[in-house]
Amino acid sequence: MHNAHLTINPAATIGAINPRLFGSFVEHLGRSVYDGIYEPGHPLANADGFRTDVIELVKELGVTAIRYPGGNFVSGYKWEDSIGPREQRPRRLDLAWHSAETNEIGLHEFKRWLEEVGSELMLAVNLGTRGTPEALDLLEYANLAEGTELARRRSANGRTEPFDVRIWCLGNEMDGPWQLGHRSADDYGKLAAQTARAMKMFDPSLELVICGSSSSSMPTFAEWERVVLTHAYDAVDYISCHAYYENTGDLGSFLASGVDMEHFIRSVVATADHVRAVRGSDKTIDISFDEWNIWYNSRYENVDKITGVDNWPIAPRLLEDEYSVADAVVFGSLLITLLKHADRVTSASLAQLVNVIAPIMTEPGGTSWRQTTFYPFAATAHNARGVALDVTPVSGTYETEKFGDVPLIDAVASLDEGTGKIALFAVNRSTDEGASLEIDLAGRLDLDAFIVTARTLSDNDINASNTLENPDRVGLAENTTIAAEGGVLRIELPAVSWTEILLTPQA
Ligand code: AHR
Repeated sequence: MHNAHLTINPAATIGAINPRLFGSFVEHLGRSVYDGIYEPGHPLANADGFRTDVIELVKELGVTAIRYPGGNFVSGYKWEDSIGPREQRPRRLDLAWHSAETNEIGLHEFKRWLEEVGSELMLAVNLGTRGTPEALDLLEYANLAEGTELARRRSANGRTEPFDVRIWCLGNEMDGPWQLGHRSADDYGKLAAQTARAMKMFDPSLELVICGSSSSSMPTFAEWERVVLTHAYDAVDYISCHAYYENTGDLGSFLASGVDMEHFIRSVVATADHVRAVRGSDKTIDISFDEWNIWYNSRYENVDKITGVDNWPIAPRLLEDEYSVADAVVFGSLLITLLKHADRVTSASLAQLVNVIAPIMTEPGGTSWRQTTFYPFAATAHNARGVALDVTPVSGTYETEKFGDVPLIDAVASLDEGTGKIALFAVNRSTDEGASLEIDLAGRLDLDAFIVTARTLSDNDINASNTLENPDRVGLAENTTIAAEGGVLRIELPAVSWTEILLTPQA
């Protein structure tokens, strides 16, 4: 057992937690939309063909804003294909995922689904094969109340009220050579700036996200951010970050993925602030971490990738990763990292939501279930409210191949100033030792005023997962080791574990 210590101090505020931190992402990719959220023949489908069991799971997960419709998909997308009478909508090739897109689900249907799950729409425009005019048309179609052909067309298509989309992504991963319409930082920066300025001429209160690097390992990383922000600083509000992690066999480094994410966030903040200083601006650019997750991308690249000029399947099984206990622990630690930077990461999207690298899985005609990663997300999304608190954990370290010496324990807390509820989230990265964690309340909180509960995700088999056959194999279990002792709390955190501790004020 190794010893660790942290302090919950209500004055150690990092920043307000923007509810958009618990966003997600639905891309027209694989079985995310078709045979995922939408399966008209399913016994549990509602009148719109949406699976009600999936709607319930999305609500339980607690996602706030959902990025749509891509991802790589958006860079070849014609939004006009997805509106109007369904029987007249064209079937198109989706070059990004080598699939066919039927356009059965489009903007109107997706918005209806969002209303069912109670989430906000975060819409991406195509700056790959298209440009400013098409983005403006989509904006006018979506957000103008009345008086033009596009607004009238929306009404004729069944929606008198505008969609009123507040947050928009200016393309997707435009630094990636795999992206349709991939551009240099200079070319994309100019296009994004021009599009953003035009969109803000329509409505200055829109929140716009410019594409940052598709990962911090891109050769153009940081310089890309500097150049695109130099072009567009005044016109945009966010710069995006994307990061995916996978266990390549080096478990120690995998468990330390949060360290890499933290370094990524700090670098982007530093670059954005550098541009601010150079421009003499008093405006701050925040981060939209609008793709993050565990993703076994090597499986996609080497096994699942679809090819063939005559092979364009509809809703193929793609990116259907099955998540283990270790994956969920790393996933939970990534949430901790996002919260530790709540002052600058004010929007984030778990990529993705259903079937595609997802916390929710479905079987056509059959059941749906929660992956291991569902649990840390739902717990954090429901309980991390108010402000994030720095708890400065002190623990031993361990040596990793990728990141050198890494703390065994990472943690963050939140304080809901309205209710007084405190939530603490902690990860034990040790692969072989439990931790005895002492939680000091900095002499500012009276333990007797709270009901204290704790739940932990861990397992003797860190490779265990939830499957169609065994959907409830892994979950959160009450951690009964938590105890108050002379004004401090003590809890045992098993090796490779993620834990949530709640201090709920007594009624
Ligand atoms: O989420 C899967 C893919 O990952 C997205 O389409 C793309 O933006 C990223 O490379």
